[in-house]
Order: sequence, then C-alpha cells, then structure tokens
Amino acid sequence: THVVTENCIKCKFTDCVDVCPVDCFREGPNFLVIDPDECIDCAVCIPECPANAIFAEEDVPQDQVHFIELNAELTPVFGSINRSKKPLEDADDWNGVENKLQYLER
Ligand code: F3S
Repeated sequence: THVVTENCIKCKFTDCVDVCPVDCFREGPNFLVIDPDECIDCAVCIPECPANAIFAEEDVPQDQVHFIELNAELTPVFGSINRSKKPLEDADDWNGVENKLQYLER
C-alpha cells in the first residue's frame, strides 16, 4: 500500500485525490489517509502531493513508520473523498513544519 505521512497534516492540498484510479483516499478534518485495502500501489499520487507526504509503504522514512498503522486505523473513521478541493487555510505556511502529529484532528 501507499501511506500518507505527517506533512499532510494542516495542509491537505488534496491534489492526490484527483489522480487516484481507485478512490482510496479518506478525508479527516485536517489530514487524508489511504485505505490500505483499496490502494493498488500505482504510485501516481506521489508526485502530485505538494507536501511530498505520500510514500510507498516500504519507503516510509524511519521516523514516520507509525503512519502506516495510523492510515489503517483512520480509514474507517474518515469519509470518502474523490475530488480535490481547496487546501486548508495557511497550508503553504504549514508545509514542512515538523512535529505536526499533535495537531491531527480525528
Ligand atoms: Fe495531503 Fe498531499 Fe494529498 S498534503 S491531501 S497527501 S496532496
């Protein structure tokens, strides 16, 4: 599967959603996740993310591996999204900020 990691939090650019052929993204208030049971590992979403937040599971950086479990955990909690929308306000300011997990809304 592919995995959405920390830098999506408080950005949520949603460009990733438009290219997904299987609509596997799920949307929370300030973060998206990928449904690991739906993702077909096509990888087209990776270059679409302005925050570089998406990785193949085997490429997730060491300090982000907890996001693999978090994507699976939040998949049934979050709702479907299959079309991009406006990024969150201040998305550009939050792009690249470290330790954003504390701001994750469920
Ligand atoms: Fe998040 Fe990047 Fe998609 S910021 S919503 S993973 S385009």
